[in-house]
Amino acid sequence: MREIHIMRVVRPTVALLAFAVAACTRPVAAPVPSLSPATPVAATSLAAAAPAAGVAARPVAVVPNPNAPKVLVIATGGTIAGVQNAPGTLGAYRAGTLTAEQITASVPELARYARVETEQFSNVASTLVTPEMWVKLAKRINAVLQRGDLAGVVVTHGTDRLEETAFFLYLTVRSNKPVVVVGAQRPATGISPDGPINLLSAVRTAASPKAVQKGVMVVMDDRILSARESRKLYQRTGGFSTGDMGMLGVVASQGPEFFFAPVRRFGERSEFDLDGVDTLPKVELTMSYPGGTGHTFTTNPKGVVVATTGMTAAENATYRALRQTGVVVVTSFTSGENVNGGGGGDGPPPARVDTTAQRDPASRDSVARPAAAPVPPGVTALHLTATKARILLMVALTKTKDPREIQRIFNEY
Ligand code: SIN
Repeated sequence: MREIHIMRVVRPTVALLAFAVAACTRPVAAPVPSLSPATPVAATSLAAAAPAAGVAARPVAVVPNPNAPKVLVIATGGTIAGVQNAPGTLGAYRAGTLTAEQITASVPELARYARVETEQFSNVASTLVTPEMWVKLAKRINAVLQRGDLAGVVVTHGTDRLEETAFFLYLTVRSNKPVVVVGAQRPATGISPDGPINLLSAVRTAASPKAVQKGVMVVMDDRILSARESRKLYQRTGGFSTGDMGMLGVVASQGPEFFFAPVRRFGERSEFDLDGVDTLPKVELTMSYPGGTGHTFTTNPKGVVVATTGMTAAENATYRALRQTGVVVVTSFTSGENVNGGGGGDGPPPARVDTTAQRDPASRDSVARPAAAPVPPGVTALHLTATKARILLMVALTKTKDPREIQRIFNEY
């Protein structure tokens, strides 16, 4: 078998010199001159990849495995594709700069575990990722996973909005094959970048038969996290966590090791078919707080998610009135942990006490009034952050506007 010795060197390019213009300490959105977001380009093999720009010297001896599973790396941008104005520093950088080919080429070890193909979906900071892009990406992944020769897919993504894209894919990729979303907190040209090891772990996971039937996962910092639970808690390496639930396993030196599997609906058991869906219903997200009166919206949303541990009487009245207009209102605990809130478990949800009448003096008058139309029920999100509850509501609204049916969906996913 042929042994490939690869020495990566710092090789400043014209493009890199061009990056030495901006001076900010946070990543900025990189424009994509040749690729409109969500436009897939032809897959290329790792062997044909161009060298990565500005990556620190790292001698590597790799024996590619010609029988390794095939994994498609779909790149969307982010810090994992970030290049600094001054490479090798801790300074400012542009997210979404290196291409899919350059990112994979900077990790020659990938060839030991997978035959990697690449596809450039977009090349942007993840704050530019839109719900329409989620739909296109999910459709693309559903299509490529039909390929019998493909073991799994890795999506490289900015970490700012990684948890949202990953959860959308968790709900809408209807396959049991592994899909792994991965990012980095340090740019590729920085000191000790985390992108290469995260990418290697992600590809090893996507290539592993052990990862089948685990749903969409986030692999970062040697942890395998369910996309349902993973959250960006802070902006440093190790910043992704699942809290009390949702860490499925680890990527050890010998490869991925699973200890748990999700049991709620996802993958092949998902009912969410994106055929005929190009845009998602508008859902707004708001918070309740002491003294709050509730939010009114000029955007005509189909749904609203309120993060709350308990609403004021005025908030209650506002969202009740909104429900009466046909808007589906979902409440979610601010922490995402509302496991006693009703809706799940074996039995029916306990009735939510509507405290408006007891606490709102305006509703205590004794004047006889005509019976009001029944108010459609609110929906309770159990153990789901408000951010993710919004995504589940957007997806649910592509199927139904009935709050009882949407409660059923929230109980199952
Ligand atoms: C981004 O989300 O695109 C920038 C930040 C990151 O990837 O860590």
